[in-house]
Amino acid sequence: MNLIKITEGKTKLLIPEVEKLTRKNIVFFNPQMEFSRDISIAIAQISKPKDFCDALAGSGARGIRIANETECKTTVNDINPQAFELIKKNKKLNKVDIRATNLDANLLLSKEGFDFIDIDPFGAPVRFIDSALRSIGNGGILAVTATDTSALCGTYPRACKRKYDAAPLRTDYYNELGLRILIAYLTRSALRYDISIKPIFSHCTRHYLRVYLQIKKSRKDANKILGEINHIQHCFTCLNREFSKLDELKSTCTCGADLRSAGPLWTTGFADPGFCERLKKQLINDNFRTMHESVKLVELIEEEQRVEIPYYNIHKIFKKLGIPAIPMNEIMERLNESGFIATRTHFSALGIRTDASISDIYSILRD
Ligand SMILES: C[S@@+](CC[C@H](N)C(=O)[O-])C[C@H]1O[C@@H](n2cnc3c(N)ncnc32)[C@H](O)[C@@H]1O
Repeated sequence: MNLIKITEGKTKLLIPEVEKLTRKNIVFFNPQMEFSRDISIAIAQISKPKDFCDALAGSGARGIRIANETECKTTVNDINPQAFELIKKNKKLNKVDIRATNLDANLLLSKEGFDFIDIDPFGAPVRFIDSALRSIGNGGILAVTATDTSALCGTYPRACKRKYDAAPLRTDYYNELGLRILIAYLTRSALRYDISIKPIFSHCTRHYLRVYLQIKKSRKDANKILGEINHIQHCFTCLNREFSKLDELKSTCTCGADLRSAGPLWTTGFADPGFCERLKKQLINDNFRTMHESVKLVELIEEEQRVEIPYYNIHKIFKKLGIPAIPMNEIMERLNESGFIATRTHFSALGIRTDASISDIYSILRD
């Protein structure tokens, strides 16, 4: 394996030289995930964990950076022996005091406790969630990546049913449904252990979904969040969408067309606005290469927490109306003038979040 030396954040990394990035690479390293790793570093700097575990570490990029750029005790693990060798080389290169391990992540997490666990697998994270929930301490953070967006976002509904026990739907806001299905899956897994969760930050970027959950071991709190997992009903004729409890699902939309359902999914905020503020400040302070992009993302995500109902694709709306689209700012102004909240969304440049109903949106834009 030929290695090249790069710098990410404040850390030097030896990474494999590859012609094409695939999961068959001897050791996996994706330079595009620098953005995701920068956000993790900032979150660890804010939350100050005592014991961080990079459970599926590849070259060790995230864990080595956590050890080098924060104060925290770090375990960096990968099942692949060649990844383990590279982790040790990166440890030496940065002179950091990490513990490198070469174990199955489920074995490591079943034996030991951590208060910040990172699960970054190929594809679905589901087979690591139970052991991560048993390992994580009260008040800790569980960070999870899912790259199987085709299952979560509705291209392969049977895969979503199998892995996440949920029905997706290929709507115009498919990526938001994918993220909400992922959070609901993680929450339902946690509830079985009387653990309550709070999504402090989540995002959908390029080919992956990423969620940071704050853990609280409390049966009382677990009971409180039960009501935040529901279903969504969508009308493909008029584009109406509504969250609904399982026992209140309807078959017909107010427009008379059939309603389709998806879920279970998480129906409230997927980030905490107060935490977003702190994250933004930390990212500005860190001044990583990805700073402008990451700060913009955090600002958008903070803003869009004002509206829970999924975003509308403005092209679809104008196509339904049969009139030419007007600029996004003008749409937002018109909605604001009519007394509604209107924000952009990080899920799509063509998306708009609003608390206006679909019939309000049509009448405001038709004028
Ligand atoms: C997507 S890569 C991780 C990338 C890494 N987190 C980064 O930021 O560069 C997934 C890694 O999981 C490892 N892996 C797969 N199954 C595992 C298991 N059961 N236990 C531990 N590691 C595992 C693979 O060897 C691979 O290195």
